[in-house]
Amino acid sequence: MSSEIKAKISAVGHYLPDYVLTNQELEKLVETNDEWIRTRTGIIERRILKDPDKASGFMAAEAAREILRQRNMDASEIDVIIVATVTPDYMFPATACIAQSMIGASNAFCFDLSAACSGFLYALEVGTNMITSGQYKRVLVIGSDKMSSIVDYTDRSTCILFGDGAAGVLLEPADDENGIVDSIMYSDGDMSSTLIQSGGGSRNPASHDTVDKKMHYIYQEGRPVFKRATEGMADVSVEIMKKNQLSGDDVDWLVPHQANLRIIDATARRMNLDPSKVMINIDKYGNTTAATIPLCLYDWKDRLKKGDKLVLSAFGGGYTWGAIYLKWAM
Ligand code: UT7
Repeated sequence: MSSEIKAKISAVGHYLPDYVLTNQELEKLVETNDEWIRTRTGIIERRILKDPDKASGFMAAEAAREILRQRNMDASEIDVIIVATVTPDYMFPATACIAQSMIGASNAFCFDLSAACSGFLYALEVGTNMITSGQYKRVLVIGSDKMSSIVDYTDRSTCILFGDGAAGVLLEPADDENGIVDSIMYSDGDMSSTLIQSGGGSRNPASHDTVDKKMHYIYQEGRPVFKRATEGMADVSVEIMKKNQLSGDDVDWLVPHQANLRIIDATARRMNLDPSKVMINIDKYGNTTAATIPLCLYDWKDRLKKGDKLVLSAFGGGYTWGAIYLKWAM
């Protein structure tokens, strides 16, 4: 019986900090230039959470509050909160518990999920299965990352890429055929060292040495990650289309992780998708890690129509990657 239950997205919320970090400002920090950043990545500006007392938990709570307002729902009605993040407020307790306390979701059970840039997709997959199990009715799935807390603003190869932000969705049982239809998820730990924050965990606990060696910052080998990301996102997007007998004409929207405009363009080309059907906001927010996909859904929500066919697709550290096919239900 329970397998007949389908999950749908019933609300979308977000939070973006006010401070805008432009390419021009980065030109003053590192040896870079606006033209290089635009042509190599597609990024023009990104948001930064400047308040030192606020972090990913705060942003997740703000996104959750917007979702609750949209559904006219009390926080006590939430069953589960999943926060996808690689910049948790603390190693523990979970950022989802911090956000829960902030919004007063006293009946929810809460946990974090770590899958880097695929975090939202992975969390959506977990949340969907919690709904289809029949055991939970209202699952908040939020991606929240304060990337500025782990970015080295003297490293030009990474500091230009990332921004801060949060966004998420409410999952509820679907009442018609619209909702989450299918998913394909992958991981490959063999290349984990090419995209990593190596300090602060149990392998390299924080010490003077880990600070001196800048191990608490993001380390990325851009070229190998770029190559695998381009292949991975395109392959899995085409795979989910084939599995569901979808042509490029059938898909209404590609909702891609926003890491690099060139990766997004390559994915859309492989899917045979008209560029007008691709959600792109990397120019405004950069790479907000777990927040990119729900931020796209938020920015486009007024243009989406019930029944629209969406392919969500991401690639990130781990490596982790995947795609979700859904029919918009709002
Ligand atoms: O979101 C999770 C997954 N992450 C990704 O998908 C990111 C994947 N990687 C990328 O998006 C790209 O590799 C980057 C945007 C990070 C870098 O672009 P690239 O085209 O791969 O550049 P590169 O690393 O091959 O560097 C090309 C040149 C180098 O100079 P030389 O050695 O050719 O003289 C770099 O030193 O560009 C130089 N460079 C820069 N120049 C100006 C690197 N960063 C900058 C910069 N400004 N910010």
